[in-house]
Amino acid sequence: MDIVFDILLILHLVALGVGATTAIGMPIVMARMGGATPEGKQILGGIARRFGINSRIAVAVLVVTGVLMVAVRYGGVEAFNSWFWVKMALVALIVIAMVISVVAPRGSVNPAILSWVTRLSLLGIVIAAVFAFN
Ligand code: HEM
Repeated sequence: MDIVFDILLILHLVALGVGATTAIGMPIVMARMGGATPEGKQILGGIARRFGINSRIAVAVLVVTGVLMVAVRYGGVEAFNSWFWVKMALVALIVIAMVISVVAPRGSVNPAILSWVTRLSLLGIVIAAVFAFN
């Protein structure tokens, strides 16, 4: 089962890379939106949409591979310390921020707040993951 776990961990970390790229790239794109020409806005909007899709796929892959890794290697969550639960709470926060960004009517939520919640949660998840599993 070790090879299965290894493949899942590779997918997990690749998805983390995709998610982190979005977390860094999206604010840069959005910051340039304000002063852009209509044509520029269209191009930047396309990039932002692509980032949005990428991040949703990344989070889905992280959750699915994470759950499978727990099942394959640990057979359940009993053995984990509290850092694992810190990580899970922050994962839930990212998922909630993502759902809000999709369902909230335009202009009702400040995207900068969602962006900061996501970025800080991602940083917290990486720190919590290191303490949870090492
Ligand atoms: C945004 C979502 C997530 C991020 C950014 C993330 C990040 C990470 C990182 C950086 C590692 C490597 C840690 C290390 O080996 O030191 C890792 C490993 C792991 N993660 Fe996640 N993770 C996420 C979601 C999840 C979820 C939802 C679960 C389980 C329900 C999970 C379970 C695991 C497991 C089992 C490992 C491997 C532990 C080992 O090496 O024995 N992750 N994750």
